[in-house]
Amino acid sequence: MPYNQRMSGDCIEGIGAGTRLCAVLGCPVRHSASPAMHNAAFAELGLDWRYLAAEVAPADLRAAILGAKAMRFIGLNLTVPHKTSALEMLDVVEENARLLGAVNTVVFETPGPDGQWVPLGGLPENPVAEIRSHGHNTDAASFVRSLKEEFQWPDLRGATILLLGAGGAARAAALRLAEEGVGSLFIVNRTMEKAARLMAEIAVRFPSVIPAFMPESADLIINATSLGLKPDDPLPISLDWLKFSRPKRAYDMIYRPAETAFLRAAKAAGCQTANGLGMLLYQGAAALELWSLRPAPIEIMRAALRKNIYA
Ligand code: ATR
Repeated sequence: MPYNQRMSGDCIEGIGAGTRLCAVLGCPVRHSASPAMHNAAFAELGLDWRYLAAEVAPADLRAAILGAKAMRFIGLNLTVPHKTSALEMLDVVEENARLLGAVNTVVFETPGPDGQWVPLGGLPENPVAEIRSHGHNTDAASFVRSLKEEFQWPDLRGATILLLGAGGAARAAALRLAEEGVGSLFIVNRTMEKAARLMAEIAVRFPSVIPAFMPESADLIINATSLGLKPDDPLPISLDWLKFSRPKRAYDMIYRPAETAFLRAAKAAGCQTANGLGMLLYQGAAALELWSLRPAPIEIMRAALRKNIYA
């Protein structure tokens, strides 16, 4: 087999001079399952594209984005700790990313035949014209898509939701849930002022959502804290509350491990449960669709993620 056709991990490399690139930039990034997911999708779509993971220190982020643009990458994903700082490093940023204060997807674009900006990945060849970087946030929408799918719950209007956490992921989820028209949103966080600030923001932007601190029960409880990533982490909510309030559904944004102590306890209390794998999947699918203008092969991407993370 020629050197450029070696089998490696989840896909055939087959890299040549026409191969086009995407990457996730993070620090650390070695744990990322995104290369497995995207490379499986590229192979399925017959695209001669490859997706890499690059560890980039915060001080080098601007240079890395400019470098990718200069090399005519198709696009980038950004992960911890780059999502917020990238906002000021891009040529244009979508309104939803500005609102959330975070960018997780960058599309490199060029003027198309009619002068409108189009993604480089939507064109058959690399153009020589001007290129701009365009920032998006696909995290919040992918969270809600995953939630609806996992719980077969198409309409969240009027729901009572208890959200644990008030960091970046929780804020994105809270604003998106409010946009979906949930009835009451309760936010609990170790640092109470952060929860209060987020609730105040929601009260201003979405006055129909009733903000409060602790419901007697809920249609859904979400763990958006980092508690559960380590095996000896405490539960993000008291076991007593879970046992006595028995929320209908419990969602953990953590997907590694597949079942956190929170999800185990929620299941034992009778809740329907789901982890955050779907969120990872749908943010990846949304990025791929922005880059390629083609429908993402969802089941191929899901299988690649499961294999990479759980096999
Ligand atoms: P992300 O971008 O993943 O949301 P983050 O913004 O750092 O990350 O937020 C982490 C969340 O986990 C926060 O809600 C944080 O609570 P604080 O706002 O009080 O920091 C929560 N968290 C992290 N470690 C925690 C711990 N040991 N106990 C309780 N909550 C914790």
